[in-house]
Amino acid sequence: MNFRAELVIEPQLYQLSKAGKLCVPAMNVNDSVTKQKFDNLYCCRESILDGLKRTTDVMFGGKQVVVCGYGEVGKGCCAALKAMGSIVYVTEIDPICALQACMDGFRLVKLTEVIRQVDIVITCTGNKNVVVRENLDRMKNGCIVCNMGHSNTEIDVASLRTPELTWERVRSQVDHVIWPDGKRIVLLAEGRLLNLSCSTVPTFVLSITATTQALALIELYNAPEGRYKQDVYLLPKKMDEYVASLHLPTFDAHLTELSDEQAKYLGLNKNGPFKPNYYR
Ligand SMILES: NC(=O)c1ccc[n+]([C@@H]2O[C@H](COP(=O)([O-])OP(=O)(O)OC[C@H]3O[C@@H](n4cnc5c(N)ncnc54)[C@H](O)[C@@H]3O)[C@@H](O)[C@H]2O)c1
Repeated sequence: MNFRAELVIEPQLYQLSKAGKLCVPAMNVNDSVTKQKFDNLYCCRESILDGLKRTTDVMFGGKQVVVCGYGEVGKGCCAALKAMGSIVYVTEIDPICALQACMDGFRLVKLTEVIRQVDIVITCTGNKNVVVRENLDRMKNGCIVCNMGHSNTEIDVASLRTPELTWERVRSQVDHVIWPDGKRIVLLAEGRLLNLSCSTVPTFVLSITATTQALALIELYNAPEGRYKQDVYLLPKKMDEYVASLHLPTFDAHLTELSDEQAKYLGLNKNGPFKPNYYR
């Protein structure tokens, strides 16, 4: 299986399972805690700046940025840009993530409210057609548009392939799309994932993701007959914790062990799992 393939197929696994068309047990590693926190949050927090710098050399201080989606990827992007002094707006459909954005100090807006003024637009929703031609028509000259979320579906790039617009390839992964009045927008990686296309991804994060995937395969392979049916499962919490514990020595980090008395008080096994399966 392609190393990153689960990013694309994970929502479809549930659809297949619901339709009774899944013919093998499947492990949804994308939603395991270690994968989500490290690949989605921390990896994107590092690589959003790298991807934008390498392609555009943009200065972040004071730039107005709108980030669509405040899930793990969006949170990482927003944190990095805020730390660089950008003015960050967030769009969300989910009131809980929206409230998180507000509490983290971001202005929650509709895309149409800020589209004329922003310098950078970043999609992180896992959805499709989040930025459409109408939005692209209203962007200001020089606006940078890129995607950190799902595949190449979030920005309706096909809508820019019309006769009145001119495409100019500035360098690899960077296109200027030019309107008849001379306005240009800077489209990165033709709407594909910016960091995977244009920057490096930290190997430490990849190690965490690869370990999660390997353990999921081992678990499916070794599981006794009947433990897993033709359905979608999350990695058992204990394995998720194991993935994290394997990476702690890198930081010379010293984990506290529960005393017998504390383990009894919390009703936990001293060796984990330390959190219920639903804990994120
Ligand atoms: N670039 C990378 O390296 C990388 C890494 C991991 C995941 N991903 C991809 O990024 C996407 C997001 O991942 P995530 O972990 O943040 O998912 P998530 O589900 O935690 O976050 C997505 C958020 O977008 C919101 N959303 C959905 N449609 C929206 C819309 N039209 N407008 C505004 N908000 C909307 C959802 O409510 C949700 O809060 C996924 O497709 C994932 O596969 C990319």
